[in-house]
Amino acid sequence: MYFVANWKMFGNSKSVNSIKKVINLTKISKYKKAKIIYCPPYTILQNFAKKTRNTKINIGAQDCHYEQNFGAYTGSINAKMIKEIGANYIILGHSESRKSGDTDKKINLKIKSSLTENLKVIFCFGETLIERKNKKTYKIINHQIKSALKNVTILRNIIFAYEPVWSIGTGKVPKSKELQKTAFLIKKFLKSRFRGKYNFKLLYGGSVDNKSIHNFKLIKELDGFLIGGASKSSKKFIDIIRNFYK
Ligand code: PGA
Repeated sequence: MYFVANWKMFGNSKSVNSIKKVINLTKISKYKKAKIIYCPPYTILQNFAKKTRNTKINIGAQDCHYEQNFGAYTGSINAKMIKEIGANYIILGHSESRKSGDTDKKINLKIKSSLTENLKVIFCFGETLIERKNKKTYKIINHQIKSALKNVTILRNIIFAYEPVWSIGTGKVPKSKELQKTAFLIKKFLKSRFRGKYNFKLLYGGSVDNKSIHNFKLIKELDGFLIGGASKSSKKFIDIIRNFYK
């Protein structure tokens, strides 16, 4: 089970100490199966990488530039740089990155360059509230998956993350039945499109906390969670993991 902490634009060099408790949690046999990935901002990625060396915790970035090679892109960081400092994962296609300019085409290039650098990609997709109201959820999801994975042939290192935009940071979550159905259809779509060659991993993200986890954990189609707000406090993050395995 994946528990991915997406810290977004939060945290400073001192924040790294807060994960000590989480490192301790991973030593308890009950939680051995929890695959914990921290995705802090770039500025403290290396601090996190050092702190978690020789632990079971993995590190990921939250985005990258689409260009694979070094180049004149002021303010940017590419997948090669992320890999070099010790991260193994990267979140791509997050709705907040889409809002600030990520297009399907750019996401596709980012995925390809990240895979080439041997990063595991946590690829986010999901519908907005309006799209949901217009019953376009599946159409949107299928389109986002298809365009992001255009000409991507090896899917082994992609983890899918369904994040309904209306649920991110809002405290609103889909009903269990609805989420179960969506998760089922996403996996069905992936299997038919990529001919069932892979054991696809599907995460859910959007207002996951120590309460909502009780319902989500019953959905067997899900292989983990992408957690924003509630991951910044180690206590809240640990509570989610504890409640999952209760
Ligand atoms: P949230 O964010 O848990 O704060 O809703 C999830 C995400 O943006 O990945």
